[in-house]
Amino acid sequence: MSQLIVSGMRPTGKLHLGHYLGVIQNWVELQHKYDSYFFVADWHALTTKYDKTEDLKNDVLNVVIDWLASGLDPEISTIYVQSHVPEIAELNIYLGMVTPQNWVERDPTLKDMAKILRTKEGQNSQISYGLMGYPVLMSADIMMMNADAVPVGIDQVAHIEITRDIARRFNNIYNTDFFKEPKALLNNCSLICGLDGNKMGKSFHNDIKISDTAEETAKKVMTAITDRSRMRKTDLGHPDECEVAFKYWQVFGSDEQITRVRCECEKGERGCADCKRQLASEMNEKLAEIRERRVYYESHLDEVKDIISEGDKKARVRAGEVISKVRELVRMY
Ligand code: TRP
Repeated sequence: MSQLIVSGMRPTGKLHLGHYLGVIQNWVELQHKYDSYFFVADWHALTTKYDKTEDLKNDVLNVVIDWLASGLDPEISTIYVQSHVPEIAELNIYLGMVTPQNWVERDPTLKDMAKILRTKEGQNSQISYGLMGYPVLMSADIMMMNADAVPVGIDQVAHIEITRDIARRFNNIYNTDFFKEPKALLNNCSLICGLDGNKMGKSFHNDIKISDTAEETAKKVMTAITDRSRMRKTDLGHPDECEVAFKYWQVFGSDEQITRVRCECEKGERGCADCKRQLASEMNEKLAEIRERRVYYESHLDEVKDIISEGDKKARVRAGEVISKVRELVRMY
């Protein structure tokens, strides 16, 4: 029997190339090898945005549209929404009972999130009980499917470690080997940086969205930072010090193109503006199919909603089996 993977993403609006290259592309490949479950973590969105929910519904839909456009195939993957599977909330309660408080307090990712929250909302902003429970809820997502592995970006690995600890502790307490200890499945794609050379992120205004048009993409790419020491086209370039453009070439170009760009740049035969114009057209070519599919799904929202309800149903079948077993193990009446 094939192994099962599960992974999720918070609905943060339209996704960018960092999501695509860092995570989704990996999912698209893995779906052919594993029994695959992918969900939109809308409860997790509430841990920091419980008071800003006006766009939540739309954001959930947009995430699913971006996934489908990127090549997740609803015929082979189960695509669902976290809050449509209430069994997760129940499992979250059981797991919360067995999780020592200092395990969640130690979670480095949570500490970072708390820091960001304080910078944004002021030093006195309170961290909610819900946000403290982030890693437990995430463990519930994963253990709900009793997954073998979780394909995530490197930033989520600490969370998966906690999940393994919680699974082991549950098994010990209830004298069972029911829950698997899920492994993180990292992909080998290095993180793509934003147009300014920092981490790509929506709130940093340095991202290229999956949903951007070819023109928008070209315009953005022209603003990408290059080799800062280079003033004129004929100055000799240093591709390895080119902060963004050459890095993007390494992601989007063929081996042959990368070699050519490197040579021409080093000899001062390639200006940065021309280089970025070519890069943009290369990127647009690679992204064209995804964007076509995106336009299709955007104008067929009923189809997207049907895909979600089918996925919800399938996810609840699996969740139902697991939660029955958990109730039995905990000896609920
Ligand atoms: N924390 C993840 C993120 O921010 C989203 C997430 C929630 C998740 N539950 C999960 C990822 C379960 C993998 C498995 O991207």
